[in-house]
Amino acid sequence: MSRLDSFIRRMTSQKILMEHLVDRVNEVEGPILELGLGNGRTYDHLREIYPNKEIFVFDFTMDCHPSCAPDAEHMILGDIRDTLAFCGPRVGAKASFAHIDIGSADPTNDLAIVHWLAPLIDKRMAVGGIVMSALELDLANFEALEKPEGIHPGRYHVYRKTCEA
Ligand SMILES: C[S@@+](CC[C@H](N)C(=O)[O-])C[C@H]1O[C@@H](n2cnc3c(N)ncnc32)[C@H](O)[C@@H]1O
Repeated sequence: MSRLDSFIRRMTSQKILMEHLVDRVNEVEGPILELGLGNGRTYDHLREIYPNKEIFVFDFTMDCHPSCAPDAEHMILGDIRDTLAFCGPRVGAKASFAHIDIGSADPTNDLAIVHWLAPLIDKRMAVGGIVMSALELDLANFEALEKPEGIHPGRYHVYRKTCEA
């Protein structure tokens, strides 16, 4: 498969999944966490489909299209390994939804990321909250959710928190 086809498949899956989860996410109180602002494409879509939710965005830097820039209060700058651990006072309530888009495309580095990320994301999620991740996460107190048609197997992972660890 060409890289163009792979990119289109990834973007299509992101959109289908995000929209599929809206009703379930809206059943849960709490803000949304967007891990990886990048150029702001998925953040822009999240704020469109969740006009009722506060969205906190994490990245090393703010380097997005100007039309997709979060305001200063909602842009959390720095290494997510640090900022996710210490964002509680700023974010407040635990999250109803987290979209994780920080894969490195290097399998060894991805293994290192999921090792530190899984416990941090667990701490920031509300019971009932949903995590959508391009990286497979080991989350003992979450259940894997069924994905709608059109999502290539292994492309995305969707987890729902069932209880506190
Ligand atoms: C694939 S891009 C995100 C794309 C974005 N969701 C979009 O739709 O435009 C990944 C982003 O994650 C950020 N990132 C990766 N690892 C990070 C880390 N440990 N801390 C902070 N940001 C990180 C990178 O700087 C990059 O901007």
